[in-house]
Amino acid sequence: MSEGNFEIFLVTAPGLESALVEEVREKGFKESSSVLGGVTVKGGWPEVWRANLELRGAVRVLARIAEFRALHLAQLDKRARKVPWAQILRADAPFRVEASCKKSRIYHQGAAAQRIKTAIKDALGAPVSDDAEVTIKARIDDDLCTISVDTSGESLHKRGHKAEVAKAPMRENMAALFLRQCGYRGTEPVVDPMCGSGTFVIEAAEIAVGLKPGRSRRFAFEQLASFDAAAWRKLRGAGPGVLSAGGLRFYGSDRDAGAIRMSRANAERAGISPLTEFREHAVSDLMPPEGPPGLVIVNPPYGGRIGEKQSLFPLYRALGQTLLSRFAGWRVGVITNEAPLAEATGLPFAPPGPPVTHGGIRVMLFQTGALP
Ligand SMILES: C[S@@+](CC[C@H](N)C(=O)[O-])C[C@H]1O[C@@H](n2cnc3c(N)ncnc32)[C@H](O)[C@@H]1O
Repeated sequence: MSEGNFEIFLVTAPGLESALVEEVREKGFKESSSVLGGVTVKGGWPEVWRANLELRGAVRVLARIAEFRALHLAQLDKRARKVPWAQILRADAPFRVEASCKKSRIYHQGAAAQRIKTAIKDALGAPVSDDAEVTIKARIDDDLCTISVDTSGESLHKRGHKAEVAKAPMRENMAALFLRQCGYRGTEPVVDPMCGSGTFVIEAAEIAVGLKPGRSRRFAFEQLASFDAAAWRKLRGAGPGVLSAGGLRFYGSDRDAGAIRMSRANAERAGISPLTEFREHAVSDLMPPEGPPGLVIVNPPYGGRIGEKQSLFPLYRALGQTLLSRFAGWRVGVITNEAPLAEATGLPFAPPGPPVTHGGIRVMLFQTGALP
């Protein structure tokens, strides 16, 4: 690994790689390419910090620190000892190791992880702990061992503002990428008529005012040997000044009073509540806000078992009827797991994007152009 130019892997949900690569390029990262489950870029530690701080669509930032062939455990042991651990880890910061093996002669993950732990302990004396923030990830694939350090710690979809979540919350990184796929760039109003804990509305408002998603949280890289606290403070910058979204507003509603209470509290903690309005009512009572049209984005309840699915058709129909009769000029994005439910809205959807796994369920984004 050279100090200033190594591979950085940005993890996201499979199906959203192309949206993430777009964000990565827009934010000025170099040599990006999309691979299954993420995007790779080249850079040094400042790019690692910036990726964690600024990218809305990634869930994790891995710095690739070594790659070598390992045909058996003794070879893994020997090569793991050659990694310059002192440049990466701190002797006083706890770490843990996770290993995975695929199509390789080394097949015992536990034994592989143990060899790497011992190599690090012998090199640095750093303490091993199962709940350490710093994780070393070793992937042995086709006898090729790739060692990365997870620089994020807690998943990046946790922005650090949500104390409360609804039953089936959309992950923030997915919400941001679905907004992007709907063409949202922070210059139009957004409405979510089944807003739950307010994820889409809060992400949209933050994008409009240019807030950095990682501004309030900590990261595992703060415990690495390469961390430079002064450079990091400078990169993170001062807190947000006066919020201005050029008069834009972001609207959420839900028939559940608890969801509205949660959304308001979450928007408050994110510091964007002056830009948001949350109201308690059913989707059939939804009216377009005054002003220019924009984007309606929503993930209604998903279809589970057969009986449950049947009971959802009237809800999807009501959503479609409301939007078709009152939201001329607005674009619509609906995220759901069943094409027949999307069809029940009667909305003029283009063919959906690739399936994306969300909490174990495969969902798709159905989009319309501006409604007639
Ligand atoms: C899958 S959740 C949305 C999660 C949300 N995107 C989030 O990130 O927290 C679906 C939401 O639809 C709401 N809902 C169900 N039926 C509704 C209706 N008829 N009118 C308005 N909201 C409804 C539920 O209360 C729930 O909060």
